[in-house]
Amino acid sequence: MAKNAVITGWGCYTPSRVLTNADLERIVDTSDEWITSRTGIKERRIAGDGETTSTMSVRAARAALEKAHMRGQDIQQVIVGTASPDYLFPATACLVQSEIGATRAGAFDVEAACTSFISALAIARAMIVAGMIENALVIGAETLSRLLNWKDRTTCVLFGDGAGAAVLEATNASVGIESTVLHGDGSKGELLMVPAGGSKIPATADTVERGLHFITMAGGEVFKLAVKSMADAAEEAIAEAGLTLDDIDIMIPHQANLRIIEGVGKRLHFPPEKVFVNIQRYGNTSAASIPIAMCEAESTGRLRRGDKVLLVAFGGGFTWGASVLEWFGAHDGLRPPSRLERASRVLEDVVERVRPS
Ligand SMILES: CC(C)(COP(=O)(O)OP(=O)(O)OC[C@H]1O[C@@H](n2cnc3c(N)ncnc32)[C@H](O)[C@@H]1OP(=O)(O)O)[C@@H](O)C(=O)NCCC(=O)NCCS
Repeated sequence: MAKNAVITGWGCYTPSRVLTNADLERIVDTSDEWITSRTGIKERRIAGDGETTSTMSVRAARAALEKAHMRGQDIQQVIVGTASPDYLFPATACLVQSEIGATRAGAFDVEAACTSFISALAIARAMIVAGMIENALVIGAETLSRLLNWKDRTTCVLFGDGAGAAVLEATNASVGIESTVLHGDGSKGELLMVPAGGSKIPATADTVERGLHFITMAGGEVFKLAVKSMADAAEEAIAEAGLTLDDIDIMIPHQANLRIIEGVGKRLHFPPEKVFVNIQRYGNTSAASIPIAMCEAESTGRLRRGDKVLLVAFGGGFTWGASVLEWFGAHDGLRPPSRLERASRVLEDVVERVRPS
């Protein structure tokens, strides 16, 4: 069995339509000054006609597969983290699995709101380490613009659409995901939710009339919980990886609000220059925010081979979690992970098993 799972491919996709704070000033009673000073957000991307969580996932997935030098049919498991799936069911992962030709793969969705990507990563890593699979395609994707009440200025200015993906592969090397921690507190679920459209309050003309199928949020309370939970999860994941804060080269936090990110950094006494922030351009893309940020950190040279990376997220549910990993990057951009490489892993396992203890 493999000792660990490592990210060998990554990709992201954001829609081309940009909605600026100035655009929002024409839609609701708000201002660029209010949004920027309270959240750090300047603009966000909005899915175009025909774009959905699955279509954006597919774009991100194809980029990640290309980086990993893999084809759809090489993938053994597709996991999509999302709170805005195409349908209640079938799972968005099934739509992605079909579209990329991952004919050998299992497929399911994970819903832990903004913590969905880290949750999906934890599951994929556990499946790999348990020997169930050798690789997985893990996606975080959202089309929250379709769940927003565009008359509610307290929520519609905060969120955006997009997708990010990562290919995880088994490895016996000491790289990859070093820890994942996940937490939840369902007693606070009502502070951030979509009340209607599920089995408790099915969609009716009345629920639509009352806007109950939109995101509702108690922003101030969410804010306070977010800072403490993310800082606690970060410390826990770092300790579980056997590291200290000083060992972390880059923190890639969920991009919910610049003030939340700064609050987490201050609570941890973590240097701001080591924190990756791109919320100004995308807003809160929920499950997609960490994989999109990871992609941008890599493409801008902020994320390099050997870096110790801290991912940390918080979201509705409530859910929160963190992961520490050592960034490996692509297979040198030279070759696909060959059948020989896979066979040699099997051989290593056999040798390990027959070796006298
Ligand atoms: C939503 C949030 C930005 C509000 O910031 P805040 O500092 O709490 O807001 P303030 O208390 O300064 O301001 C609230 C006032 O601004 C008003 N306001 C809210 N949204 C506004 C907007 N878009 N434009 C202008 N005014 C707005 C409110 O109506 C309220 O007015 P009132 O005092 O007259 O009632 C902040 O609470 C937040 O980010 N919370 C976390 C949300 C989040 O990240 N959710 C996702 C978690 S994954």
